[in-house]
Amino acid sequence: MRIVLVGPPGAGKGTQAAFLAKNLSIPHISTGDLFRANISQGTALGKQAKSYMDAGNLVPDEVTIGMAKDRLDGPDTEGGFLLDGFPRNVHQAEALDAYLVERGIALDGVLDLEVPEDEVVKRIAGRRTCRNDSAHTFHITYKQPKVEGVCDECGGELYQRDDDSEATVRNRLSVYHRETEPIIDYYKQQDLVATISALGPVAEVTQRAMDALKSNK
Ligand code: AP5
Ligand code: ZN
Repeated sequence: MRIVLVGPPGAGKGTQAAFLAKNLSIPHISTGDLFRANISQGTALGKQAKSYMDAGNLVPDEVTIGMAKDRLDGPDTEGGFLLDGFPRNVHQAEALDAYLVERGIALDGVLDLEVPEDEVVKRIAGRRTCRNDSAHTFHITYKQPKVEGVCDECGGELYQRDDDSEATVRNRLSVYHRETEPIIDYYKQQDLVATISALGPVAEVTQRAMDALKSNK
């Protein structure tokens, strides 16, 4: 299956993507995680991305689209993929469509996670992320690690992401409404969108997502 996951910052895209990718045996491709890995490795791409990310703005399309295509060209995407955080504006969605046409494949669905803004703010404020791998996320109330400050999965140190400060989160939300929400209408025109509530326990949201993807087929 080839799926795009959309939703505001803190909606639980990364959390759900980990379970959905496992259930569907497809790779989880997060452009945010790819950027953070580049930043921690000190690559040129990471240096280009960092100031945009710290301010909560989108990294320029020419950087992002190239990186996403390189990852999609990887050897593990034959059977499908779950895109998290890409595309993030209509220009990126058009570039993805052109890429898929070139490969002779198409998306199976776009899963839109809906969460009220006050819940998103609570989720981001309490999130703690692993320094070794930003896909390892915890929450000070909703998903506590066994040992405070230590990642359950790899023993890495947990910290608060640089872009999780209150001012940056506010900007990320407004960027989401202005730039990313229009892709939902773009994909509605292709009849691909399934909208689900991302409120409630993580496992319930995963079940809702799986049901929505099945009925969308
Ligand atoms: P990115 O990393 O994609 O961040 P985001 O979209 O803002 O999403 P988040 O990672 O903040 O949240 P999430 O929805 O994954 O939530 P999570 O599962 O962690 O992008 C960061 C930056 O990179 C962008 O601002 C931009 O600069 C750049 N970028 C990335 N892609 C780009 C692109 N395509 N173009 C240009 N720039 C790009 O959950 C949040 C918290 O809630 C966690 O603590 C979790 O434990 C908890 N939680 C999750 N689900 C539940 C639940 N059901 N109940 C209770 N708690 C829950
Ligand atoms: Zn970890």
